[in-house]
Amino acid sequence: MHANAASSPGAGRRFVYVVAFISALSGLLFGYDTGVISGAILFIRRDFDLSPAANGLVVSAVLLGAVLGAALGGTLADRWGRRRVILLAAVIFALGALGSGLAPGAAWLVLSRGVLGLGIGVASFVAPLYISEVAPVSVRGALVSLNQLMITIGIVLSYVVDLALASAGAWRWMLGLAVVPAVLLLLGMWLMPETPRWLKRRGLDDSARVVLQRIRGGAAVAAELDEIAASLRQQEAGWAELFGPAVRPALVIGVGLAIFQQVTGINTVIYYAPTILELAGFQSATVSILATVGVGVVNVVMTVVAIWLLDRVGRRPLLLVGLVGMIAGLAGLGLAFRLMGSGTSIGLLATLLLMLYVGFFAISLGPIFWLLIAEIYPLKIRGLAMSVATLSNWAANWLVALTFLTIVDLLTASGAFALYAVLGLAALVFSYLRVPETRGRSLEEIEAQFRAQG
Ligand code: BGC
Repeated sequence: MHANAASSPGAGRRFVYVVAFISALSGLLFGYDTGVISGAILFIRRDFDLSPAANGLVVSAVLLGAVLGAALGGTLADRWGRRRVILLAAVIFALGALGSGLAPGAAWLVLSRGVLGLGIGVASFVAPLYISEVAPVSVRGALVSLNQLMITIGIVLSYVVDLALASAGAWRWMLGLAVVPAVLLLLGMWLMPETPRWLKRRGLDDSARVVLQRIRGGAAVAAELDEIAASLRQQEAGWAELFGPAVRPALVIGVGLAIFQQVTGINTVIYYAPTILELAGFQSATVSILATVGVGVVNVVMTVVAIWLLDRVGRRPLLLVGLVGMIAGLAGLGLAFRLMGSGTSIGLLATLLLMLYVGFFAISLGPIFWLLIAEIYPLKIRGLAMSVATLSNWAANWLVALTFLTIVDLLTASGAFALYAVLGLAALVFSYLRVPETRGRSLEEIEAQFRAQG
C-alpha cells in the first residue's frame, strides 16, 4: 500500500530528512535547557545567595513549566496545527533563554525558567508528532527518533558548555546561549510545511495533497490520502473518544511508558551523575564531571544505534532487550554501592555501570516512548492524547528529580538503585504484556488495529 512511500524518489526523501532535522532542533533545546542547570546552579547559588528552597525552585521550574506546557500543547496542536505550535515553542525558547541569561534576581530567573519549561513541554511531543505525520513508513522510527538523538546531543552540549564556562563562573552565558538554536528553529520551521494529515483533518484537501506530493517526491499519493480520509471518517474528536474503548488501551500504553521512562531513574543520572559519582568515591569534582560527559556520550552513541535498529528489528524487541539491560545496570549499581567498603572508591565501576544503564535506556525507553506515543493514537485526537502521555512524563520526571536525594538519604544509594531496578522489572512486565509492534505499518493501519481490538 505504501510502495509509493518506500520507493519515493530521492528529492522527496531528502526534503523529509530536512523537515525532520529542523523540527528536531527543538529536541536539542529540550536536552540543552534541561541539562544546563546542573552546572549553572553552582554559580547561580553563589551569586544570588539562594536558600535550599529557592535553589530547588530554580532547578525544578523548568520541569513544572513543562508539565503545564504538555497539558496545553495538545489542544493547540490539534487546533492550530503542528507547525504553528512548534513556531510558538521556538519563540518561547528564545524568550526563556534571554530572560534566564539576563535575570536580575532569583524570582525573575525562576519565572524565565518556568517559561522555558512551557516551551519544552510543548515541543517535547509536538516535534515527534510533526515528524511522524510526514515520515514515510519505512523510516518513521528513525526519523522520529532523530528528536531523541538531538535531546541527547543537547544534554552533552550543555555539560560541555558548563565545563568550558565554569572557570569564569559565566552562568548567564550558559543559560543564554540557548537562544541560538531557538532562533535557528524559528527560522527553519518558518520554511517548513504543515503536515498533510493535519491539513486533511481540517478539510484543507488541496494543501494536503500538495504537501504530500512534495514530501513523497512527486510519487502517487492518492492511496495515502484515501487512507487518511478513511481513518478520519471513523473518529470523533474530544475527551469522550480519548477514554472510549477504542483509544483507552493506547492511552494506558502511553501513560504507562511515560511514567516508567522516568521512574526507572534516567534523570537521576542525567541531572545528578556527578553527585552519584562522588558518593561512589570519586574525590575530584572535575573527574566526576568528565565521567558524566562520558556517560552523556554513551547516551548519544547508543541513540544512533537505536535509530539504525528501530525500523529494522522493530520497537518491541529493542524495548524488551533494553529494559533487561537497564535492570542489570541498576541492580549492578545497587550491589556495588552495597558492597562498597568505607574509604574505598568504586568510582570507575559506578561509571561503567551508569554507562551500561544509560546505553540500554538509549536503545529502549528513551526513544521508544516518544516514538510510540506519536504512532498509536487516532489522528483526530492525536495531539490531545499525546499531551496526556507527555504530561504524565514531565510530572513523573519532576517527582523523581525532587525525591532522589531524599531517597538516597533514607535508603542509601544502594537502596535507591534497587528501587529503580524493581520499577524497571515492572516496566518490563508491562511492556511485554501491553506494547504492540508498530514497525512497517502506516499510522492509519496502526489506528485500525487498535480500533479492531477495542
Ligand atoms: C527523556 C528525558 C531524558 C532524556 C535522556 C528523554 O527521552 O524524556 O527525560 O532526560 O531522554 O536522554
